[in-house]
Amino acid sequence: MSSILAIHSFRGGTGKSNLSANLATCLGLLGKKVAIFDTDLASPGVHVLFGFEADASAKYLNDHLQEGVPIRQCAHDVTPQQVRHASGKILLLPGSMESDRIAKLLREGYEVEMLNDAMFTLADELKLDFVLVDTHPGINEETLLSTAIADSLLMVMRPDSQDYLGTAVAIEVAERLDAADIRLVVNKLPNHFDKESVRDRVASSYGVPLGALLPLSDDLLTLASSGLAVLEYPHHPWSDGVRALSEQLIADLSER
Ligand SMILES: Nc1ncnc2c1ncn2[C@@H]1O[C@H](COP(=O)(O)OP(=O)(O)OP(=O)(O)O)[C@@H](O)[C@H]1O
Ligand SMILES: [Mg+2]
Repeated sequence: MSSILAIHSFRGGTGKSNLSANLATCLGLLGKKVAIFDTDLASPGVHVLFGFEADASAKYLNDHLQEGVPIRQCAHDVTPQQVRHASGKILLLPGSMESDRIAKLLREGYEVEMLNDAMFTLADELKLDFVLVDTHPGINEETLLSTAIADSLLMVMRPDSQDYLGTAVAIEVAERLDAADIRLVVNKLPNHFDKESVRDRVASSYGVPLGALLPLSDDLLTLASSGLAVLEYPHHPWSDGVRALSEQLIADLSER
């Protein structure tokens, strides 16, 4: 049985794509077989973290959703060497970066149910342990569906007043959809912020568990999405936090 993890945030730029790619890597380092769907089809980005460069004939998630290309043909192996050595695997379902493809997608849309069917089909065909869904920020049809089917929803926010307010709305929507398991991830916590008061504020504001509290990091800023922090800086507190989250998810989801 595979588990679906949706990574979402109300506002943009919270760190969803970095978290998705690094969480997938941590799961892979623990020997898991993972696929990442880049459902942010209006502004895809998670491929950059894996240094994925498609050749001219490569198929994208767009090709499945709009042209009916089998989902398996849209899955690309991006497994880093260290993950391969740990017997893990990472497949990426990228969004197309071609402007006319993005425009077509925005113009014509697609059946969102196809996206969810694709996740189950791929998980089944390839015997995946985890499907990670990197989403577009805000509340829209795709995120509503992935929220509803996810075994765990990771809601990412910064310790910022706009994020606190917006995240409350996103959590309310997810709860109305009976989201199975919601965890908050606070990212970009400035070093001088008091961790305990952030924990308390989160606990009293949302009543959902805190999955991880990840620091604002100059190293991540410098890395600038050009690599995977958990491989580049394995002993960094940010990487420690993502690794602990991956271990917690494996423990909690395998109990079900
Ligand atoms: N803890 C951190 N410390 C410093 N910089 C970070 C941290 N986490 C992410 N970043 C940086 O923040 C920027 C946004 O990250 P990312 O693209 O992962 O966010 P996102 O939520 O996917 O954005 P979008 O909503 O646009 O999809 C990137 O430049 C990334 O390197
Ligand atoms: Mg993103």
